[in-house]
Amino acid sequence: MSNTPGFNGLLKVIEQMINAHRNDERDRILRKICVVLEDEVPHYDWVGFYLVDPDTEAELILGPYVGAPTEHTRIPFGKGICGQAAATENTFIVQDVTLETNYLSCSPDVRSEIVVPILKEGVIVGELDIDSHALAPFTEEDQAFLDAICAQVAPLL
Ligand code: SME
Repeated sequence: MSNTPGFNGLLKVIEQMINAHRNDERDRILRKICVVLEDEVPHYDWVGFYLVDPDTEAELILGPYVGAPTEHTRIPFGKGICGQAAATENTFIVQDVTLETNYLSCSPDVRSEIVVPILKEGVIVGELDIDSHALAPFTEEDQAFLDAICAQVAPLL
């Protein structure tokens, strides 16, 4: 193949087309999940996915979401609740965001937040982030429910 002019470049173009298509499909599904969660669960006011930057594996990139726009489109591991969840690969439940010092505010309406890491074959690939305007609304049922969603989403990422 290498002695046929243009084939290697064309192969790269087609590879990029397939990846772009895969990412479009993935984002469409992720957005639908955000829509249904925000619509159906009264205490979910901002629902979004952050995806691990495949280049650095040390930063989260904002993916599909529903709710107020946020300035936090890239979050380094360790920073804010999202970054802490990514760095530790643990679910973070913050029932009162005013008590959390390592917190990135997205809107003054937000009172509480849950962040669930998404692991694929043992490696963090993203997370599901939910903000609530209610104080302390998150229960073990939320956590189990969102864990189950993240397990379903993992193969897509
Ligand atoms: N509050 C998050 C930042 C993301 S926004 O809520 C959408 C944090 O502290 O990491």
